[in-house]
Amino acid sequence: MKLISNITKMQEISEARALEKKRIGFVPTMGYLHQGHLQLVEKSVADNEITVASVFVNPTQFGPEEDYDEYPRDLDRDLDLLQERGVDYVLYPDVEDVYPEGFATYVQVEKGTDVLCGRSRPNHFKGVTTVVSKLFNMVKPHRAYFGQKDGQQLLIIRRMVQDLNMDIEVVACPTVREEDGLALSSRNKYLSPEEREAALIIYNTLQKTRERIEEGERDGWALKKAMEEAIKAEPLANLDYASIVSRDYLQELSRIEGPIMIAIAAFIGSTRLIDNVWLEVE
Ligand code: PAJ
Repeated sequence: MKLISNITKMQEISEARALEKKRIGFVPTMGYLHQGHLQLVEKSVADNEITVASVFVNPTQFGPEEDYDEYPRDLDRDLDLLQERGVDYVLYPDVEDVYPEGFATYVQVEKGTDVLCGRSRPNHFKGVTTVVSKLFNMVKPHRAYFGQKDGQQLLIIRRMVQDLNMDIEVVACPTVREEDGLALSSRNKYLSPEEREAALIIYNTLQKTRERIEEGERDGWALKKAMEEAIKAEPLANLDYASIVSRDYLQELSRIEGPIMIAIAAFIGSTRLIDNVWLEVE
């Protein structure tokens, strides 16, 4: 496995591998890897001759009051985990090289980015689509792997790839969870034992809502209200949003129908956690 910080070098390597007719799978990450990330890596290694993973904590997707500086980092551990899984290259660029002085170009998806997480994190998805476009241009992958855990991000990236004719297959991978259902997240490490217990309210509420839909409930507002009440009843939780949206443009649904996403974001103590469930409703 090779660690590459030089962006031009990464591009040369990708071009050489493509000339050899090798398929390149790409897993973008911000590091501090857990089994959620590693599942994407394992799938890429199984599906492609070459796998590139990136580790880059992207400043443009963090708001001014958010945890960019404190975001957990442990490159040595990440490299061991990636090597064990058979990754070929790890792209680890410097912030100054990704965003040099004078940088002035952003990629913005104009639908579905101002709702859910986009409402409380105004420029977040602009930062995500910009950096993912840049990483795609550095790695030139045939396939790119994203987790359903960040459901809105995945849907927005799919939209971007389609709208900009990027010749890349976006592969969605299921959310990896702890045994009790809590979605794995690099931010879980901020939780105290009491908060870790309280965090389960997010998954439990999603499951409860799924059950009610499966039992025939179609009233979006009634389901939303029940989710809000369930989260508010947990003293350590502070609701950001609970919402049921269509999976095309992430519009909130008054009547539950079609491919949908049930999504919740809540602060548990001072840690913001998100989770979601996808359903096809007849
Ligand atoms: P990061 O939060 O490090 O996540 C990297 C990838 O791992 C994303 O596709 C995310 O959805 C996936 N992932 C995280 N936890 C998961 C879980 N429990 N189950 C399944 N997949 C999981 O998402 C980002 O980084 C950044 O926004 C990035 C796309 C790298 C752009 O900076």
